[in-house]
Amino acid sequence: MQMPSQPTAIYNQQPIFHSAFESTIINMTQPTSIDMTFDTSLVDVNAAANTSFSTTESDSTVDGQQTSKRTQNLQPTTAPQKPSTPVQHIPTQAAYDQWAAIYDTDGNMLQAIDDLELQTLLPDFLSQVKSSSATEQELRVLDLGCGTGRNTEKLVRYDWNGKSVEVTGLDFSQGMLDVAAKKLSPLLKENDQQGVRSRLECCDCFPTVDNPSVSPLPAVSNLRPIHAVTSTLVLEHIPLKDYFATLAALLLPGGTALVTNMHADMGRVSQAGFVNADGVKVRGSSYVYTVEETAAAAKAAGLNVVSVNEREMRKEDVEGSAVGERGWKWVGTKVWFGMVFRKTS
Ligand SMILES: C[S@@+](CC[C@H](N)C(=O)[O-])C[C@H]1O[C@@H](n2cnc3c(N)ncnc32)[C@H](O)[C@@H]1O
Repeated sequence: MQMPSQPTAIYNQQPIFHSAFESTIINMTQPTSIDMTFDTSLVDVNAAANTSFSTTESDSTVDGQQTSKRTQNLQPTTAPQKPSTPVQHIPTQAAYDQWAAIYDTDGNMLQAIDDLELQTLLPDFLSQVKSSSATEQELRVLDLGCGTGRNTEKLVRYDWNGKSVEVTGLDFSQGMLDVAAKKLSPLLKENDQQGVRSRLECCDCFPTVDNPSVSPLPAVSNLRPIHAVTSTLVLEHIPLKDYFATLAALLLPGGTALVTNMHADMGRVSQAGFVNADGVKVRGSSYVYTVEETAAAAKAAGLNVVSVNEREMRKEDVEGSAVGERGWKWVGTKVWFGMVFRKTS
């Protein structure tokens, strides 16, 4: 098992903002009020409308409260005064419904790093899946929190060697799924000939472990057990225990999962979101998780850690235009991790 070379400080699993928002996520209710705070971070002075900032520096306030957890490092030392950028906190589902139209094109740095890392990690993972299920008639693969199908498409396009494969994408944002459907539907005919079928479903994938009755998840509980799950950049939004309870419930014994997420070193000072056409930063709910506490939560749910990869921003990423100029401030900071888990038999 490849473990992180540097021990990372453990942080308690805490939502970045108040618990009222947690219940809105769980119940999938629409926002009843809008929290507007003003972002006084020093980075996105000229944050253009319709850009994503899941890779920008912290707000100094979140819902009007100091967020010390997110301001421990990466504070610019020579920063100009910047005008305040309004920040709007809304339920995660609503945030992604709004973000959907530009999610694939707004230059999000974490997606770019995710893409780079998955160039090797994903084929390696899928090749393992393929060989370990060589005797299975049919493979069921799930993209959990598939969003716009950024990575679902890679699952569908993968060379499964003529095997019968069902790729399911689940997400609770209809806006994101609408984009995914446009991406995947042209592939359907072609893939059907190769034996690959795909479908998308809209549902909240993560009931609360402590109160499962809140969200019965018909779409999830009706799924047949899954051989392999991918879930990229989703964990940030979900309580750890709930996330891994769902993952463990979905997987067949011996099934595997590839999970990627914002690294805690970045998450302490940033979270997913985008700048809307009015120049307002729109954010859902986010949590900061270290690799260690992620591994511990997975283990508690019956998932063994197979591998861990951590990725810092590199100057070559910016120089080679894999990420934009805003990437400079993250150079040398770990921004991403990817972990593979196997459900114990
Ligand atoms: C940062 S996006 C990642 C999307 C995609 N996996 C990717 O890598 O581009 C996070 C996704 O998680 C979804 N999500 C968050 N909470 C969810 C929940 N409780 N149930 C289902 N989907 C959820 C959001 O709607 C969003 O599409």
